[in-house]
Amino acid sequence: MKYHVVTFGCQMNTADSIEMSAALNAKGMNAVSSLEEADIVLVNTCTVRQQAEHRALSLLGRLKEWKTAREGRLVILTGCAAERIKDEVHWRMPQVDLTVGAKDIDRFSQRLDELLGDSFDWRSETSESFTEEPSPAARGTKGFVAYVTIMRGCNYSCSYCIVPAVRGREIYRPLETILGEVKAGVESGAKETLLLGQTVNSYHHDGRDFSELLTQIDRVPGLKRTRFISPHPHYMNTRTIDTIATLPTVCEHVHLPVQSGSDLILKRMRRNYDRVGYIKAVNYLREKIPNVSVTTDLIVGFPGETEEDFKQTLTLVGEIGFDSAYCFKYSPRPGTTAAESVDDVPRQTKEERLARLLEATEAQAARRASQMVGSVQEILTEEILELPDTKGIQWATGRTRGNWNVRCQLDINSIVKPGDLVAVKLTAAHGRSLEGNICSA
Ligand code: SAH
Ligand code: SF4
Ligand code: F3S
Repeated sequence: MKYHVVTFGCQMNTADSIEMSAALNAKGMNAVSSLEEADIVLVNTCTVRQQAEHRALSLLGRLKEWKTAREGRLVILTGCAAERIKDEVHWRMPQVDLTVGAKDIDRFSQRLDELLGDSFDWRSETSESFTEEPSPAARGTKGFVAYVTIMRGCNYSCSYCIVPAVRGREIYRPLETILGEVKAGVESGAKETLLLGQTVNSYHHDGRDFSELLTQIDRVPGLKRTRFISPHPHYMNTRTIDTIATLPTVCEHVHLPVQSGSDLILKRMRRNYDRVGYIKAVNYLREKIPNVSVTTDLIVGFPGETEEDFKQTLTLVGEIGFDSAYCFKYSPRPGTTAAESVDDVPRQTKEERLARLLEATEAQAARRASQMVGSVQEILTEEILELPDTKGIQWATGRTRGNWNVRCQLDINSIVKPGDLVAVKLTAAHGRSLEGNICSA
């Protein structure tokens, strides 16, 4: 049997999709890249904003036809939107054969057995098409990055956010399990590990905290880079920052979602920090880690957000100088506290604020990019573009430790392969796109 996975949402979902694919592989099934070839489709959904949920669920609408086109085809619905609507799926979407919500990802394999039951003899299939159970970490590796979930759920209660409702309370994985996954990831070719969780820096298990976890991961032989998303500003204390600053594998990049620059809005969002506290954390980061990339998430049009509040966000953006920012229009999510307030910022105003914010953050990113031109950066090569461009130049793509994408020019004798770490001299910035030449392999 062949399966195809479609993933919506954040990197937590990507990690979950890799994990669920491993469960399908363990039953002797093979992943295919098109729906047309597939017998099973797994749709892993997001519900963080209404539009995110809508995109995932409208795909399900289109799958009705896909399903009837060939007998025996199966539709599996998983993830955060699945968790939210799981009680209604059977009557709203009869084309769905199995629903596994985000809280049940660890039980995916078992649920799959229940679905396949008599209809599919996976044991016999396994013996032919499958030799060995993949190691826990090989499961989480994508490209040269080992995706490692260090915690599930979220104990915060940001008033706009549906994640705690669909992912549940925080559960931390044991440090040894995490280390084992990082090690196995490196053994299967990963150069970088990406530690995942909703508030990763709140990690604690058996008396060991996030700093201890980073310190142990840093010692894994062969690991070149460590990243994590998302830390919460509330836990970004000096101990954590000092640890990040001293460990060689931990990249000079911190994604620190601020959401708003207005103290009034931050309070109503229940974020547990204020503007000054956030700025202090970023200043300390920059003092300890020169050239650190700081990126963020921002929301416009939260209920009650005035032009004055929004301007506070714009001035914060100006003050910090983010390397990049994901900007969102507030979307009321059923069941959240904020959704009880009237969504009173008109759509047009939200759109206009979003456009102003994007203009400001893009300009800032372009400025940061141009400041880097002339510097030499370590790039993790991800892809060698197959064809030379119209001028006959061969390109590779990769990422800096600060998480900037770079297009690198290869010379004719270059022996660079995907996964190589190379020194690249940055030669040009076009907006926020960087270009460079490889200095050494
Ligand atoms: N745990 C992370 C965020 C996870 S959700 C943190 O606290 O930093 C990813 C981003 O989606 C959030 O940072 C926020 O900017 C955005 N988001 C969440 N709920 C939203 C909503 N209801 N409307 C608009 N954006 C939202
Ligand atoms: Fe949502 Fe807040 Fe938890 Fe992040 S910290 S997932 S924004 S509730
Ligand atoms: Fe979406 Fe769930 Fe991630 S709601 S943003 S996929 S945690």
